[in-house]
Amino acid sequence: MAPDLDLVGLLERRRVVVVAGAGGVGKTTVSAALALGLASRGARVAVVTIDPARRLASALGIEHLGDVPHRVDPARITQAGMPMAGTLDALQLDPRATFDRLVAREAPDEAARQKILRNRVYRHLSTAVAGAQEFMAVERLYELVDSDDYDVVVLDTPPARNALDFLDAPERMTRFVEGRGLRLLLGPRSGAGRTGWRALQAGGHMVMSVVERLTGAQLLTDLSEFLQSFDGMYQGFSDRASAVRNLLASDSTRFVVVTGPRPEPAGEAIALWRRLRDDRYSLGAVVVNRVHAEPAGGGAPPDGLAHLLAAAGAADPEGLAQRAADALSAARARAAADRHEMAALAQALGNPPTAVVPALDDDPVEVTGLARVTRELEGR
Ligand SMILES: Nc1ncnc2c1ncn2[C@@H]1O[C@H](COP(=O)(O)OP(=O)(O)OP(=O)(O)O)[C@@H](O)[C@H]1O
Ligand SMILES: [Mg+2]
Repeated sequence: MAPDLDLVGLLERRRVVVVAGAGGVGKTTVSAALALGLASRGARVAVVTIDPARRLASALGIEHLGDVPHRVDPARITQAGMPMAGTLDALQLDPRATFDRLVAREAPDEAARQKILRNRVYRHLSTAVAGAQEFMAVERLYELVDSDDYDVVVLDTPPARNALDFLDAPERMTRFVEGRGLRLLLGPRSGAGRTGWRALQAGGHMVMSVVERLTGAQLLTDLSEFLQSFDGMYQGFSDRASAVRNLLASDSTRFVVVTGPRPEPAGEAIALWRRLRDDRYSLGAVVVNRVHAEPAGGGAPPDGLAHLLAAAGAADPEGLAQRAADALSAARARAAADRHEMAALAQALGNPPTAVVPALDDDPVEVTGLARVTRELEGR
């Protein structure tokens, strides 16, 4: 393990940085901190966040963080003690808006575009279908890279049940849109609905949440209209999914895997890292976030204060010495557990480049906190 790894330096001159990991480990925080560091060094950076809690928006001083990139006021950053040689734009993924743009681009004409945008199955697609959010995240990434407005785009990934989901999302969505499964269910003519309806209900299928809101007949009408509308767009969708896949697989992309020093997220990080490696994606580094440092005081025995007080003949009616001893022991145990977990992680992955971010006393919800995380990621 190399605690002084400069992860920001490692990612300079890449076009795409994808930050992935288990739920709640600090992906959004690390994405923002990396984007901040890259912008600070002179790059034109966009960070795409997926942060429904909007913590990041408030940290960056942006009230209405939405689908459109929003420039972070450089003064906020310099006030936090960080130079600002480049620019930092932030946006919040809006899967629906991204999906609508994709459809608008691919629809053969205005009438087809209107028809599909009004279709109820389509309207639920962008939120209801498993993988739609992940697909739109990489689609938005592609748009931004394609625009040439940025030197590097940092992508925060959605809190997925499985951190690997977003890698498969483009392919899964293409398959869904292609509608093979649905076509089979609907039969050669959509009239053969009853079996299809039952099969859809039975399967715990990914369109269930759409299904729940429509009657069987409505659903089948909308579904067949949806499939017809998409017929002309399938090729465009499929080409786009390949382009997105190529971008993710290219050497100008780096993956950063975030984890906490605990067995569960570390297990997910190990699976993710191995999968990325096996599929030949370019790996940047592992970030172990919220690590508990060895408490100050070196190897002093926990009951040192008690001895000191006793030697001085001082009374300790509040039991201060005991509480201090307990706190010290607990902090040491936590630090030891974290060290142990990090060693296991390093061993499982063959000592990958690793950046360590300590558990901060205050949530990094202000620019100053993010800048602190950036400095840790720079190994400073
Ligand atoms: N090093 C740290 N020290 C203290 N708090 C932290 C640290 N890193 C992140 N946090 C806090 O932990 C919480 C979760 O972080 P964050 O939102 O970045 O995780 P996430 O992986 O994006 O979560 P989700 O999977 O829900 O999207 C936030 O409140 C954040 O401010
Ligand atoms: Mg997040």
